[in-house]
Amino acid sequence: MKIVVANWKMNLLRKDAAAFCEAFLKAYKPKGRVEVGIAPSFPLIRAVKNRVATSGAKVFAQNGHAEAKGAFTGEVSMPQIQDSGCDGVILGHSECRQYNGETEATLVPKIRAARENELLPLLCIGETLAQREANQTLEVLRQQLSILPEVGAGPLWLAYEPVWAIGTGKVATPEQVREVHAFIREEVVRLLGEAGKEVPILYGGSVTPDNFEELLTIPDVAGGLVGGASLVPEKFLKLVQQAQAS
Ligand code: PGA
Repeated sequence: MKIVVANWKMNLLRKDAAAFCEAFLKAYKPKGRVEVGIAPSFPLIRAVKNRVATSGAKVFAQNGHAEAKGAFTGEVSMPQIQDSGCDGVILGHSECRQYNGETEATLVPKIRAARENELLPLLCIGETLAQREANQTLEVLRQQLSILPEVGAGPLWLAYEPVWAIGTGKVATPEQVREVHAFIREEVVRLLGEAGKEVPILYGGSVTPDNFEELLTIPDVAGGLVGGASLVPEKFLKLVQQAQAS
């Protein structure tokens, strides 16, 4: 199975999202075992879901709260995300780790809450430039993955997103991706056993139609989590077609 997920981050208004869906759906032909996902901001979710539902594309939220309800001003719960039409939720994105203080401890209850509400958690992991330069990449990833036994086997997609490659135009080299994805696979199998073999591992960080084809040839790269390039329907479509052809 190959997977391409658009992470729109805090971009687009309803009219832009509608135009994106129209342009994308006009040319998109579901094919083979390729899953397509779109992660819009909360206010756009319902409109995007309504438009893409018949295409089979999954809709993801970009974060969610661990508690089902209560006095958490500004937050959105997993039941609300599910109720708004989402199939999954991105968790642990580096921007949430960086700006919202997301940690392994806050992610465990979020993954559980997502699963309890039939939402597929797409967990992001990745090292900063300082950590890579200090030769700590694998150690950082081991730490970020260490929560897996606590949440146990269950629906899960992973995305390796080196922080230094996100939005910078600096994509990780095929060698770096190969090394890290092999390491992540090994860790996930060590932590979850047989079930770990089935967890798809996406790559994210400046994915474009210019580098995606090569990334898709790397063992254990199940696809991409795409920011910037996913805002342009033609580019996103091209990425999906590359996944279909791989
Ligand atoms: P990018 O973002 O493709 O713009 O680098 C990827 C992400 O943050 O998921």
